[in-house]
Amino acid sequence: MKIVLFFLSIIGIIFSGCKSDKLTMATAANFAPFEYISGGEFQGIDIDVAKIIASELGKELVISDMEFDSVVQSVASKNADIGLSGLTMNEARKQVIDFSDTYFNAAQMLIIKENDKRFENLKTKEDVIKAINKIKGLKIGVQAGTTGEFYSKGDKDWGFDGFKNTTTISFTNGAMAITAMLNNQLDVVIIDEMPARVLTKTNSGIELIDIALTDEKYAIAVSKGNNELLNKINEILRAIKQDGRMQEIINKYYTQNQ
Ligand code: ARG
Repeated sequence: MKIVLFFLSIIGIIFSGCKSDKLTMATAANFAPFEYISGGEFQGIDIDVAKIIASELGKELVISDMEFDSVVQSVASKNADIGLSGLTMNEARKQVIDFSDTYFNAAQMLIIKENDKRFENLKTKEDVIKAINKIKGLKIGVQAGTTGEFYSKGDKDWGFDGFKNTTTISFTNGAMAITAMLNNQLDVVIIDEMPARVLTKTNSGIELIDIALTDEKYAIAVSKGNNELLNKINEILRAIKQDGRMQEIINKYYTQNQ
């Protein structure tokens, strides 16, 4: 009898583990308009997308806020079910997690101090790279663990050459990098386009160089081999792209943060 009860409880534990009624999302909520905290609440494009996914799956969304460079690992180790964090698809990350279909096109962009004469008349990506490489000892601020950091430092896996004679300084979020730049501890900041637009609108004394430096696609991370969840997420993404809900969410947070 005891043995039967023992096995029954083991089965119960396994069953409740599989059929969790919660959907845990790993994110770094310091990245408006994708995820940020406002009025004590999580808000942003990724938050709204995650809410739709959770409701379609009949689960309660639980948001786990962490530093960006922990997001992928947290999904890989199954501490979170999904990673939704303006996360750029990339081969190196694909080694440890699976990506959904893409839901947003992105690019790195350069933010400078207003009227920084060293960055005048830039028209192309090549112009920007040349201008950066020309200045010895240029200090570039980036967000730790992001494409911006890899792009600035150079990284083989990402196919980025990096810049000559520059120093890359990493911050936990873009706002901190902007503050450091305004305090003259940095020359420029490199960060994803939409957050760059929000930062330049909400801070005075800085300027956006509106030229795409990279070609990136955001996608949702799930743990490796979790095809059931992945397929459902892709189905939901397809539906909200088709019926216009995705665009509505993007418009809502884009105008709200201008
Ligand atoms: N797209 C960049 C990357 O994947 C930056 C994402 C930063 N996201 C955030 N929530 N802070 O590396």
